[in-house]
Order: sequence, then structure tokens, then C-alpha cells
Amino acid sequence: MSIHKLSIQSYYTQATALAAEYDHGYLKPERQENLRIVEDWLPDFFSKAKVLEVACGTGYWTQFIAPAAEHIVAIDTAPETIRMARKRITNSKVSFIDGDAYELEHDIGKFNAAFAGFWFSHIPKARRREFILGLNALLEPGSKVILIDNRYVEGSSSPLTQYDAHGNTYQTRILEDGTAHRILKNFPCASEFKSLMIDLGQQCKFTSWEYFWAFEYKTPS
Ligand SMILES: C[S@@+](CC[C@H](N)C(=O)[O-])C[C@H]1O[C@@H](n2cnc3c(N)ncnc32)[C@H](O)[C@@H]1O
Repeated sequence: MSIHKLSIQSYYTQATALAAEYDHGYLKPERQENLRIVEDWLPDFFSKAKVLEVACGTGYWTQFIAPAAEHIVAIDTAPETIRMARKRITNSKVSFIDGDAYELEHDIGKFNAAFAGFWFSHIPKARRREFILGLNALLEPGSKVILIDNRYVEGSSSPLTQYDAHGNTYQTRILEDGTAHRILKNFPCASEFKSLMIDLGQQCKFTSWEYFWAFEYKTPS
């Protein structure tokens, strides 16, 4: 079988074209209890906040944050995912725009909170600092940031099929059309954030559930 090595961006564009694929991870029965816990836990952090959401996908998490927030600007690089997100969320407090997580445009607004769901795991380790620096640059000092993502759980997560010299891990995912894709997917632990965040954030906190983790910090004041 040939395994495609698309960028994360192209992979999600292709996966979204096969509509049912995209939110597949949210349908796994064993994750439902944890999902309800996180969905309930998350919105309070964004009460009346001006939120920047990075790599919003189809707006799965946006739908829970929107009722609490003052407004949300949600960005993603895949036009098809943005189209699906706009369909899912019609709340006028939310704007979906095309944007690159590594090159966040300064004219999209000033924010006092940020969120990224299931994005951090796709960042190559060597680019984590670049991403956090770019994100912090759009946030007021003392802004709350929350990242959430998957924990690796044997039997539920797609197996890791490759490792590279930089410490990144990869999964091979097979889409409904039979095509196989090598996807960078890292599973960071709390100590990785400790070294990453040294001068990038304050009041850092790592929380984990069985299937998910969350990392919170405040931008330096
Ligand atoms: C695993 S999905 C997460 C989507 C959504 N946040 C969620 O939790 O359901 C990763 C998303 O990252 C987007 N993406 C890939 N590369 C990106 C980039 N450089 N900048 C912004 N978004 C990107 C993909 O289009 C995809 O929607």
C-alpha cells in the first residue's frame, strides 16, 4: 500500500471532502464520557472573553465556547472545514476566517483569550515555540490560553507507525476512500510544556483525563 505524506493542512482538506471522516474522533463510544466532561469544563474559561481560536476545523469546540464568549475569531487553513463550521455555527458572535496558525495576521483583532483544540499534537516539536510566540503576539498580557488534545490510548488511538530524528511521532490513517496517510501526531506530557513555556507563559497547568489532556497558561504580563 502506498502511504501519502501530505501536509497536515492538505490531509484535513482531503479528509473533510469525505464529509463523515472529519469528526470521526468525536463519535468513538469509549470517549463520550470524557468528551462531556471537557465540553462542560471548557466554556467557563472564556466567559465574556474576546477569543482567538486556532485551527478550528468544523467548529466542534467553537460551539461550546461561543455562548460564553463576547466574540470569537476562529481560523483554519482548510476552506472546506470553514464552510462546515459556518454551517454548524450561525451565532453572530463568531467569525470564521482563513488563516495560518504559524503566520497569524495582526489585523484580525486583539484578543484576551485563545483556544486550540486538537491542533498542538500536529505541530512538529521544532515549531512549538514559533507557534506559541506567534499566538502570544496577538493576545493582551495576562490572556488565558487553553490547548486541548488527545492522549495516546492503546486500542482507541490510531497506532504510532513512525518516529523521526526530531522526536516526532506519526500515525498512518486510512480514509474512507482507501487512501493511506502518514500524519504527524505527537502526544506531549506535562514536562514537555515545562521546558517549552519557560519564558512564554505564567500560571501553567496541565490536566489530563483518560482520553484527553488540557494545557492552560496566561500570557506574560
Ligand atoms: C485535528 S483538526 C482539529 C480541528 C478542531 N479544532 C477540532 O478540535 O475539532 C486540525 C485542524 O488544523 C487545521 N490546520 C492544519 N494546518 C493548519 C495551519 N497551518 N494553520 C491553521 N489550521 C491548520 C486543519 O485544517 C484542521 O482543521
